[in-house]
Amino acid sequence: MRPKVYIARRIPFPHIEEIGRYCDVVTHEGDESPSRDELIKNLRDKDGILCLVADRMDREAIDAAPYLKVISTMSVGYEHIDIAYATEKGIYVGYTPDVLTEATADLAFSLLLATARHIAFGDRYIREGRWRISWSPTFLLGRSVWGATLGIIGMGRIGKAVAKRAGGFNMRVIYNDLVRLAPEEEEEMGVEYVSFDTLLEGADFISLHVPVTDKTRHMINEESLKKVKSTAIIINTSRGAIVDEEALVKALKEGWMAGAGLDVFEKEPIPPESGLIGLDNVVLVPHIGSATFEARTRMAELAAKNLLSVLKGEKPPCLVNPDVMAIRPLSQVKMI
Ligand code: DGY
Repeated sequence: MRPKVYIARRIPFPHIEEIGRYCDVVTHEGDESPSRDELIKNLRDKDGILCLVADRMDREAIDAAPYLKVISTMSVGYEHIDIAYATEKGIYVGYTPDVLTEATADLAFSLLLATARHIAFGDRYIREGRWRISWSPTFLLGRSVWGATLGIIGMGRIGKAVAKRAGGFNMRVIYNDLVRLAPEEEEEMGVEYVSFDTLLEGADFISLHVPVTDKTRHMINEESLKKVKSTAIIINTSRGAIVDEEALVKALKEGWMAGAGLDVFEKEPIPPESGLIGLDNVVLVPHIGSATFEARTRMAELAAKNLLSVLKGEKPPCLVNPDVMAIRPLSQVKMI
């Protein structure tokens, strides 16, 4: 019997079509997430699902899917999936790390430059017909990126890729993470480990690269924002939940810090009434960290491979929950 698979979005990449060679596929044809009812209804008879970050695969969704063997998310983040429960139920969870690292680091650095040099404001200024004086000594003064101190919170794959880019701008890189890198790696990368508070107090730019956990949720809050330099700029390409947005708006309005470049928000899409929207010292982009042809093509390829591997009874290239193999061995999920 061919496996039944639900693909929770229109994903027009050749590797996704490959799934149809082996499985009976139902696709949610649209760019928006399926409604909760549609998701639950479609999961009832499925062996696999290919989902995205906006599709909540929680206990209720997993319970609605008695035959489910694999959840493959086309994302590096997997906080939308109840990993512990999926593991308990013998469901393999695949994700797509590495392939989006460089694209996301590029975006973090673009936001850093754009915020430091008021690029988005300048663009709006011209389009709105407000450019009247050709050149003024004090107009739109930004902050120098060259030679500044960059504080990276979370020195994983993406944090490291951002640190590499900082080298090209002659920046001093300090970092904080739960786990410190080996001294040889620190030396090779030219980065210095510091405490969280030292990073907040010393960095000109702070870039966030941690996943959402109970420890990292709102780690940037009123208390931490009071410690940053009044000239500091915060960049967030990780997850909105890392930053207490209300506190950030207050800090930006009251001048505790200079600006923020944000790709991710506590609520996405960002509500029109968000205090961030009216601020000129922020650059906002709509969760596009991995949005390059190259990265998305490779994410689709990896998500398809993860899904098909499990259904073929093979270990997927990127498995979030290897413990699942002891609970339900690959031989028991093999259908192809
Ligand atoms: C991810 O992969 O987790 C991103 O946030 C979506 O590209």
